[in-house]
Amino acid sequence: MFANHIHIKPRLACLAGLILAGCAVNPANPESEVATPRPVTETIVSLERAQITSPNGRISLELTSANGQPAYAVTLDGAEIVAPSRLGLRFAEGADLDEGLIITAVTEASADETWEQPWGERRLVRDEHNELLIALRDADGGTHGYDLRVRAFDSGVGFRYEVPDTGPRAVVDEITRFNVDGDATAWWTPAGEFNRLEYTYKTTPVSEVPRANTPLTLRLEDGTHLAIHEAALVNYAGMWIDQRRGGELEADLAPRHDGVKARLDGAFVTPWRVIQIADDAAGLANGTDIYLNLNEPNKLGDVSYFTPGKYVGIWWGMHIGTYTWGSGPEHGATTENTKDYIDFAAENGFSGVLVEGWNVGWDGDWFNNGDLFRFGEPYPDFDIEELGRYAAERGVELIGHHETSGNITNYENQMEDAYALYEANGIHTVKTGYVADGSDLKLVDEDGFARYTWHDSQERVEHDIRVLEAAHRHQIAINAHEPARDTGLRRTYPNAVSREGARGMEFNAWGTPPNTVEHQAILPFTRMLAGPFDFTPGIFDLMPNGEEDQNRVPSTLAKQLALYVTIYSPIQMAADLPENYAAHPDAFQFIRDVPTDWEESITLQGEVGDFVVTARQERGGQDWYLGAVTDEYERKVDLDLDFLTPGLTYRAEMYLDGPGADWDTNPYSIRIESQEVTSEDSLGFWMAAGGGAAIRFAAAAE
Ligand code: NOJ
Ligand code: CA
Repeated sequence: MFANHIHIKPRLACLAGLILAGCAVNPANPESEVATPRPVTETIVSLERAQITSPNGRISLELTSANGQPAYAVTLDGAEIVAPSRLGLRFAEGADLDEGLIITAVTEASADETWEQPWGERRLVRDEHNELLIALRDADGGTHGYDLRVRAFDSGVGFRYEVPDTGPRAVVDEITRFNVDGDATAWWTPAGEFNRLEYTYKTTPVSEVPRANTPLTLRLEDGTHLAIHEAALVNYAGMWIDQRRGGELEADLAPRHDGVKARLDGAFVTPWRVIQIADDAAGLANGTDIYLNLNEPNKLGDVSYFTPGKYVGIWWGMHIGTYTWGSGPEHGATTENTKDYIDFAAENGFSGVLVEGWNVGWDGDWFNNGDLFRFGEPYPDFDIEELGRYAAERGVELIGHHETSGNITNYENQMEDAYALYEANGIHTVKTGYVADGSDLKLVDEDGFARYTWHDSQERVEHDIRVLEAAHRHQIAINAHEPARDTGLRRTYPNAVSREGARGMEFNAWGTPPNTVEHQAILPFTRMLAGPFDFTPGIFDLMPNGEEDQNRVPSTLAKQLALYVTIYSPIQMAADLPENYAAHPDAFQFIRDVPTDWEESITLQGEVGDFVVTARQERGGQDWYLGAVTDEYERKVDLDLDFLTPGLTYRAEMYLDGPGADWDTNPYSIRIESQEVTSEDSLGFWMAAGGGAAIRFAAAAE
């Protein structure tokens, strides 16, 4: 049986009723689930191409299957962004899904709906997209094949494979390609290395990227910015981006312990492969709702046990060597010490106190002995019941900590009881940790054999879901360090409140080497596209190890304040020791004031690796906050304040780099001043080399 080759666009084909299967235009159903593969009917229709365009008409994706090899290409305003790039999956069992496939049916849909986040960088998220469900089936009329679901947004495109049930399958290779201009500039960290996602960014032509983590951010010669990432990473492996040859990028999945990329049983869908597209860097940072929109709606229901807020902790002291995690004379997590931190939090309006090193297992070589952690057993000098009570009396909550040293099974065996212990003591947020080299997450199988896997393998991804579900049963939110990368899963599991997943502040304490001066001017356009980051800003003693030590915080004081706005997280740490805040009470006021939950967020200006200017409106209020950071070069910023609410007068409380400020030679010079402004005004300020600016726009009562 052979296909009737008709060379017309699928939409017309549908309208003309030429395709028998799957041709009806679906009512808009943006959350539509896995498509049940439609049987191919007697008459096979092969369509030459299928095309989808974004609601504003600027971005198009075209799918073709010349010679039976499905491939897609993407354009912006008609100009090629992604050249024809192959698609496909290969399996250990054979019956690969990469060739011999023709387009047999196309179904259209579209959506325009707005939904509300329980917490977030904006309260209301608009999901406006067009969709095609493209059936790719055997050229000879068999049922072998898959559906490709494609969505086009004004901020980019996403597509995923929807594979029918053919029993157990072991994915050994995904050949999704992203053929881009090899001369484009890329900002990237290496993938599949020992330090997981925690590398400084490199800036090179794409053609020099060996294998990179996502989001992988690119700037084309004409200034168009792209980011390649994924959405809804569930029951599958995380995607690394491998380079075949100049600009020919290919998905490379993080392997399981047995080398297989993903084991699946029955019908399955892959995560969405996402290409964000924007005219400039700021547009990229403003287009990240695409990831949330490509995730399923909230599955957990009410997560009001979690309240966004700021926290302090027994933490930085360990990193700079003042305290120890383990027991002994310098033990940080003592009852007495924790009470001091609770008092400090209460005095300053912070809602949480993180305590690390509270449980048995930290003595000795904890990095290599995750098996020894006991998550229900506090050290004798840490009275969790008394501290839970003491905190509650002061309107503060403890934030729990579970360092697993990457031993997943040891944690899973204890986590339900550990969450119950926390729940009983009023703890609603837990920071988890998976300190272990990149391929060394330890699992113990049913036969008692130790197996080792990657931090973004399918096994880790599945573990994370079990953690989120167990935590939710005990009204607990999770902030994972050494996480699998964020793919917008917080929409579906809104107790996944923050995570690490890049180099945080801690590297400035223990170096090897510290973060680069430009690091925070890269993050908003790379790591931050993916979601909240527990960066732990607010270090006021910028040289905790002394002036001569290479490990210092490469920043001015004002820049430390700006990070509360430029880096989004619903929980933000005031990371330094209380005594260092006492030394700068004026600057500290900004940290006391700044919220962590937002009505709206806008990236106003920026260039990747140079600078960023971000404005956010507090949720449930009229105040706006602005953060700006620059790289190793000083910079002047001029802004229109038209983001402010028209008709209101604001007092702009400005925390700016002071005279002669410079991250290297004069980091503490700060100028704090205020002036009245309205949305009609413009504002200019200067940022020192390695500096920044933080501004609170406090609305005057009407
Ligand atoms: C690494 C985490 O990023 C850090 O915040 C934590 O203190 C240590 N692991 C110990 O758990
Ligand atoms: Ca870390």
